[in-house]
Amino acid sequence: MFVVAIATGVFYRYGMLTPLPGGLALPNVRHAHSHLMYFGWVTPLLMVLISETVAPQRPFGRRLVWGLIALAVPTWALFLRYGYGVVALGEARLPLATIFSSLHMLVWYAFAAAYVRATWGMRRTPALRVWDVALAFLVLASGGAWARAAFVALDVRDPFLTTAAVHLFLDLFSDGWFLFALLGVWLARFPALWTPRLRLLTLGMAVGAPLAFLLGVPVALTPPHVRWVASGGGLLLALGCVGYALALWREVRGVERLALFFLVLKATGLMVASLPAGAMWGEQVGLRIPYLHWFLLGTVSVVLLARYAERFPSTQPAIRGLVGAIVLVQVSLLPLTGVWPAALGGAWRLWFAFGAAFIACVAACWVWMTMWMSRRAGQYAPAPIAP
Ligand code: HEM
Repeated sequence: MFVVAIATGVFYRYGMLTPLPGGLALPNVRHAHSHLMYFGWVTPLLMVLISETVAPQRPFGRRLVWGLIALAVPTWALFLRYGYGVVALGEARLPLATIFSSLHMLVWYAFAAAYVRATWGMRRTPALRVWDVALAFLVLASGGAWARAAFVALDVRDPFLTTAAVHLFLDLFSDGWFLFALLGVWLARFPALWTPRLRLLTLGMAVGAPLAFLLGVPVALTPPHVRWVASGGGLLLALGCVGYALALWREVRGVERLALFFLVLKATGLMVASLPAGAMWGEQVGLRIPYLHWFLLGTVSVVLLARYAERFPSTQPAIRGLVGAIVLVQVSLLPLTGVWPAALGGAWRLWFAFGAAFIACVAACWVWMTMWMSRRAGQYAPAPIAP
């Protein structure tokens, strides 16, 4: 899934250089990319990590995870071809990509229920406490998608409400579900980190995440008092990210330290966005895409790759190559923003972004190949990744 999602990103960059074949539209390619990354790459893998840690002997929700992967493929294809548009099926005209996306939500709810069942009555370890919150945020974030559909049905057009619903879904999905699931993966390995200071920071993050999503709504659309609440949430979240990065720095090695660097970069972005002037500056110079990828690619994906490198030791050189390419992708995003001096602009920036994404795609294929070969040779550790 990761390879296909990256290839879709490469295709987008190709589309910035020359018109895409088959009448494919750039925004639809972007939706296909982001949905596959969220639904087909990060979410199923986090669920596997949670389930294998909670119940190493009998991991739960395996079929649900396969169901998510099976759903992610048609969802990706439908977004690529039709985006959010309707598709004529006989007499009916249906928003097929949206319908398939909604099916994912039902599987998330089933996974959350399976998690509650599997952990019912268990002693709440630090990892479990954080995963309780992560799954609650997964369910809460999906409320944004239902709210958006309800607004369409009820013809609510208020630009603040409609944009806030989109960000409740997108931002709470990453800063709530992804972030807390990842914290749990770390805490399962390093439970001694659960000091009173980190506990307090985690509480702050849990309060901040469901408010900070409002920072994604353009400043001009947000009522000032709501903006200040969102800023408070953003600062709590940022503080927690920095706290975790500092606490984990001594525990982890190699590529995971890079993931912590990107976590601090994300926290810096959140702090800047918490000030209305900073958020307006970010909107003007177009920092949204680098900001998203610092965390989603630089932190979340790098940690997932590091966990899988442990399971497939022979993939380590390929994973280091992929992480190098990921750094190149991050660098290639900056010349596309207004932060880059205009005097140094030019078409080379599009070629650079395309080249970096292409190299990442080749490196991801290399990882996939080595993983496939290790599996065939039986050279992998099927044991749970975290103790
Ligand atoms: C090497 C890996 C990746 C490449 C080459 C890549 C490429 C891209 C490209 C070309 C865009 C469109 C940029 C634009 O609008 O100018 C994009 C947007 C986006 N990507 Fe990635 N990406 C990668 C990894 C990821 C990962 C791991 C995630 C999430 C887990 C992700 C989530 C997103 C999101 C949410 C957007 C914005 C979508 C929107 O605005 O509708 N990407 N990416």
